[in-house]
Amino acid sequence: MMRRVFSVPQVFPVGLAAARHCSSLTAQFDRNTYKPTPTEAKRHEKLRLTAMERIQLFCDPGTFRERDALVEHECHSFGMEKRKIAGDGFITGTGKVFGRPVFLFSHDFTVLGGSLSGANAAKVVKVMDEAAKIGVPLIGFNDSGGARIQEGVVSLAGYADIFLRNTMFSGVIPQISVIMGPCAGGAVYSPAITDFTFMVDQSSYMFVTGPEIVSAVGGKKVTKEELGGPKVHGSKSGVSAGTFPNDLVALAQLRKLYTYLPLSNRDPAPVVPTTDSRYRNVDCLNTVVPLDAKEAYDIRDAINPVIDAESFFEIQPQFAKNIVCGFARVEGRTVCIIANQPKVQAGVLDIDSSVKAARMVRFADAFNIPIITFVDVPGFLPGVNQEYGGIIRHGAKLLYAYAEATVPKITVITRKAYGGAYDVMSSKHLRGDSNYAWPRSEIAVMGAPGAVKLLYSKETAEQQAERVKEYEAAFCTPLSAARKGYVDAVIQPHETRLRICEDLERLARKNVKNPWKKHGNIPL
Ligand code: HXC
Repeated sequence: MMRRVFSVPQVFPVGLAAARHCSSLTAQFDRNTYKPTPTEAKRHEKLRLTAMERIQLFCDPGTFRERDALVEHECHSFGMEKRKIAGDGFITGTGKVFGRPVFLFSHDFTVLGGSLSGANAAKVVKVMDEAAKIGVPLIGFNDSGGARIQEGVVSLAGYADIFLRNTMFSGVIPQISVIMGPCAGGAVYSPAITDFTFMVDQSSYMFVTGPEIVSAVGGKKVTKEELGGPKVHGSKSGVSAGTFPNDLVALAQLRKLYTYLPLSNRDPAPVVPTTDSRYRNVDCLNTVVPLDAKEAYDIRDAINPVIDAESFFEIQPQFAKNIVCGFARVEGRTVCIIANQPKVQAGVLDIDSSVKAARMVRFADAFNIPIITFVDVPGFLPGVNQEYGGIIRHGAKLLYAYAEATVPKITVITRKAYGGAYDVMSSKHLRGDSNYAWPRSEIAVMGAPGAVKLLYSKETAEQQAERVKEYEAAFCTPLSAARKGYVDAVIQPHETRLRICEDLERLARKNVKNPWKKHGNIPL
């Protein structure tokens, strides 16, 4: 594969001033004469930008080219013939981010609540088709009340056209949604099919039906925030990949995220030149894992020294905190990180963490991004709620995703790898390419006390204490796995960065294909 090299400027324009300096024929503002309308001024007070400002700030200055700015809706019901606005409330087009192409759409909530009509749906469909044809990501700035009620089934048809393309192009081009206002109905289902959905604090909401309908149907009064605010979707439902404090930060962070992504499944991820040597001293890794096996530590302290400095872009930081997922770079190359987090619930795998990690694995695999897995996991979380909630089905998603993934897979067991979770977390048996264990890691069916309780329940407490020691010596080490070749090497923590750099360089040539099938049947 060809290595594509480009440089990421450290500073790029943010702020309304930058928007004013962006020239565009169709922009509603001009660099010298721009004066916000009262509606715009009201939005600016809350750091909420207009649909066009969002696009202009996301794209490199002067690169946005609008499509279909003059399209109007064709609805004649409910007096709509008198409410025609050029563009029909959606801005669509193409631009560049750090010199790389992108397709975009942006809803204008000030036009009929950013609602979707037959006409503006066709605009979105047009840029989606073009993005897929060329192989370029699609970014949507969502701020919409959903299907335009006045258009009835025409707008439902428009949504179905978009959903179909979201699905067809899933795994072909990266699709990212940013929720920047109250979004309802179809305006949340399209993002739900895209790869990542981000939200903006204080101003964005996502729900299938708004609070008024919810209280009319269920009788329960609920605020927009309670029903579908960033807190709910960022930490409870797992719908959101992350929350940004305002529009400006969201756009800046999105530009950053863009630098990790390949344009399509036919393109390699960009390689960013770095001076961060593979030989950098990472002795700090030797003391990351506490001597006491029960003591917690932050797995980010193991991740950060291994990857290029300050290159971690975390996905879903507030959801299922017992697993850490995100993008990073190693020697400038994009990688995906999946890591059990011993600091939260001892890093146990449960329903939410399994689903979170499975989605990350599948994104990485779809877009040929190597996966680095850090393992410190005591097993799957036992419990009635987990069983009733379908931990079997959800845990199987992660198992399936890792097993199916053909991208380079590097695994580092930092401490515990117990039970089924050992198998799941990118083990050798699931085609891990390089599997390492740090010297004090424990690879076993379960922890010593649990095993002894099961096997020697009739023995006295003293006898059991002896058995625990025996079990720990025999099983709670990486040696039995290493002797069988289940880990390729037991390495000192400070060797990890160098090993991973060497592996990624070698594995860039990896070419594995799964047996032909129409598609698999991942346990949904
Ligand atoms: C037409 C709409 C609209 C819609 C909002 N507006 N949603 N117009 N179709 N879907 C208009 C309002 O009439 C109003 O017009 C303006 O946009 C601003 O709306 P407000 O309600 O004043 O704004 P706000 O208080 O911020 O509330 C935002 C909202 C609310 C929570 C999104 O508007 C809302 O609940 N809308 C309906 C949401 C919904 O149920 N959508 C589902 C559609 S069905 P004026 O002229 O007064 O400024 C759907 C199915 C798709 O999408 C298929 C799914 C699989």
